Amino acid sequence: RVDYAIRPRRLADYIGQPAVREQLGIFVDAARGRGESLDHTLVFGPPGLGKTTLANIIAAEMEVDIKSTSGPVLERPGDLAAMLTSLEPGDVLFIDEIHRLSSTVEEVLYPAMEDFQLDIMIGEGPAARSIKLDLPRFTLVGATTRAGLLTSPLRDRFGIVQRLEFYGVEDLTSIVARSARLLGLEADPEGALEIARRSRGTPRIANRLLRRVRDYAQVKGDGRIDLAIASRALDMLHVDQHGLDHMDRRLLLMMIEKFDGGPVGVDSLAAAIGEERDTIEDVLEPYLIQQGFMLRTARGRMVTRGAYRHFGIEPDDQGVFSD
Ligand code: ADE
Repeated sequence: RVDYAIRPRRLADYIGQPAVREQLGIFVDAARGRGESLDHTLVFGPPGLGKTTLANIIAAEMEVDIKSTSGPVLERPGDLAAMLTSLEPGDVLFIDEIHRLSSTVEEVLYPAMEDFQLDIMIGEGPAARSIKLDLPRFTLVGATTRAGLLTSPLRDRFGIVQRLEFYGVEDLTSIVARSARLLGLEADPEGALEIARRSRGTPRIANRLLRRVRDYAQVKGDGRIDLAIASRALDMLHVDQHGLDHMDRRLLLMMIEKFDGGPVGVDSLAAAIGEERDTIEDVLEPYLIQQGFMLRTARGRMVTRGAYRHFGIEPDDQGVFSD
């Protein structure tokens, strides 16, 4: 993966998320000072903000190896047992999408997290036996989009919980400038800022757009990334002035045009735009809510006046906005 080249390896290279950097820095130093493994750590937040990157940074800072897997991959208890028994003392076990573990696998994880004990049934019927094994002390790093997706017994077993927030434009500009430098590109500050402004607060999107702007600059310009080139490239990609992409606009326009601005239930919205409910909840709406384009209410999702303004549409005055 080319990504590998621009992913920060150490906490010192990690831009933004000041609360996460400060807390993890202290917890890592403290654990190392005591010669212990880091407590189990849950990282949550929307896709593309660096949960996997952070898991790798934790392992690098603790100077241990990391083994990575994900909730859906661990189908049976034996799959998790195989991962757990391959760990060396202090290692990080990273489970992405940890909310998607099956309940039978989750139950094997509890004693492993709490007492570093593997307690598993082997065989079936009268020959079935339970075996217990001591595991080395390890650090589980779990990642999920929303903390609320975890069962409470699982959530309660993490000693450290970190929430990743959307990045501000200033931090994203630094990330774009850093990536451009590592890719050997010439991007001036206004060009980097324009890409950052239109990246949905998300480093993964910023880095992807940077690569596409690079292509555009190479073919349509002299390879240098400035404001004019970045702006034209992003217009071509249908990323609008607010960084909203095709799907974002589709969702908001559907709410405005078909549901009178809401309130509308998320399942009705999912059916209307032909997307999974999870995609709306995990990918689309967190940023739209953060940017003030939509709201979650007890009766369903609603668009805000800001959303109408964004599209230059007049809200019909039916008392939807009574403020
Ligand atoms: N690349 C992606 N996320 C980053 C971050 N937070 N800091 C530096 N580079 C990044």
